[in-house]
Amino acid sequence: MADQSPRLTTAFGNPVSDNQNSLTAGPRGPVLMQDYHLIEKMAHFNRERIPERVVHAKGYGAYGTFRLTKSLAEFTRAKVLTEVGKEVPMVARFSTVGGESGSADTARDPRGFALKFYTEEGNWDLVGNNTPIFFVRDAIKFSDFIRTQKRDPRTHLKPHWRRWDFWSLSPEAIHQVMFLYSDRGTPKSARFMNGYGSHTFSLWNDRGERHWVKFHFHTKQGIQNFSADEADEVAGKDPDYSSADLSNAIEKGDFPKWRVSVQLMPELEADTYRINPFDLTKVWPHADYPLIEIGEMELNRNPDNYFAEIEQSAFEPSNVVPGIGFSPDKMLQNRVLSYADAHRYRLGVNYQQIPVNQAKNAPVQTYHRDGAMRTDGNHGAQVDYEPNSFGGPKQDPSFSEPPLRITGDAGRYGWPGDDEDLYGQPKLFWTKVLDEGGRKRLVENIVTSMGDSPRNIQERMIAHWFKVHEDFGRGVAQGLGIETARAAAE
Ligand code: NDP
Ligand code: HEM
Repeated sequence: MADQSPRLTTAFGNPVSDNQNSLTAGPRGPVLMQDYHLIEKMAHFNRERIPERVVHAKGYGAYGTFRLTKSLAEFTRAKVLTEVGKEVPMVARFSTVGGESGSADTARDPRGFALKFYTEEGNWDLVGNNTPIFFVRDAIKFSDFIRTQKRDPRTHLKPHWRRWDFWSLSPEAIHQVMFLYSDRGTPKSARFMNGYGSHTFSLWNDRGERHWVKFHFHTKQGIQNFSADEADEVAGKDPDYSSADLSNAIEKGDFPKWRVSVQLMPELEADTYRINPFDLTKVWPHADYPLIEIGEMELNRNPDNYFAEIEQSAFEPSNVVPGIGFSPDKMLQNRVLSYADAHRYRLGVNYQQIPVNQAKNAPVQTYHRDGAMRTDGNHGAQVDYEPNSFGGPKQDPSFSEPPLRITGDAGRYGWPGDDEDLYGQPKLFWTKVLDEGGRKRLVENIVTSMGDSPRNIQERMIAHWFKVHEDFGRGVAQGLGIETARAAAE
């Protein structure tokens, strides 16, 4: 039977006659420069790597749909949150945070939970984690924190004492540190974990009303985690375990689903609520702000090409649609800047044109022109300045967000008055959320990780655990062989 394979060509379509032997002067060489197929092949290979994400470099993803089951029309004009029954296509990427792009999926780390909804009002990205809180609450501390999760500049190793040094000096982190060292620090795969928008966002409606909102995605597959030992073992045997788990399930037609809910707070209640609702190290307790179920997310299609569709995906909290807005959260404010900035560096200024990033269901009508790797028509002959008399795109004031009341003198503020509260939610996590086995494993995981820390760092950290709960402090101190009375008195 004749070979049906397509003909091999160069990048410009010239047929290639021989892809096994270089063009040489005689059978022993040397190689001739005019073998442009060889040169193109080698030169392209040398340029294949692009910068990996500075955080969340190891990841995997899939496409799916979001279906709204309850309208939030009372609170927002966003069509994605008001048109019940409509299926909105989306893409998700899940990731670990600190490791390089080849690192193990099962590392103890928060998991990224990044979603892009291709709505008819433009893309809406929700770039969250599998935890409702974070380690720091001011972006000015973010890069310092991330360095503690990365490699030591001298040795290129990852000793844990660096993170414990930082955390022991940044007590706002302890709530998230407890999540990280609990069972949920090593989820089996994206299918078996929850996702959270984490930050407080806002919803606004046409009547000029604003509510603060938190988004929750609860796995319908149930929570499943690896034990610390299992996670270590799988990291060695099958470092891509979680990536494979998701794509295999989708391949089999076993589509994972998440129940989508929101918590809502009227705008002015933020002034008087006992917790600062824009503090990313704290949750909104369910009893005060109950979850309202609004829909379902399903992942049902694997990408055809990892690099094109997942590595080149670019999620950014700045992508919001009319009716959804930001909040004063100091971390979110910075993330609104950081992500597009990172994408321009990692993927180039025209990264919006990469198919996975395109606004698939909304027209894109900007005055941006040119730039490296412009691959669309560059808006053809359309006028490229504004205002103009030639029918170019115009602003539409009907999309204006209601004004946000802001007061205060410019300054660099700490978090006054929050000291006691720092330990309140971690205490609830210890006493109310974890069962006895969960508390025991939390202590064991922390003891293992803190083993390489100098004694002064261990003691400083244990003092925080004592403030969360005496049993917690004592457990870690005993595990590390530290005299408990001394650590408690720190
Ligand atoms: P609730 O009892 O209503 O909420 C406790 C929540 O903890 C559960 O709903 C569940 O959230 C989550 N949870 C259950 N088991 C675990 C576990 N092993 N590891 C991590 N999280 C778990 O009380 P509150 O809302 O008053 O919250 C009490 C504490 O629970 C908080 O201080 C916080 O530490 C933690 N928490 C609170 C969340 C919130 O948004 N209010 C969310 C997650 C944890 P879920 O259903 O989202 O998995
Ligand atoms: C990725 C910055 C906090 C979730 C990234 C990237 C940057 C970044 C630069 C890489 C983007 C890329 O190259 O594609 C920051 C800054 C933060 C912050 C400056 C604090 C101010 C957070 C928080 C969360 C989060 C609080 C979750 C609640 C993610 C996720 C990704 C990511 C999920 C990966 C997105 C993907 O899959 O492509 N972050 N981050 N980040 N961040 Fe953050």
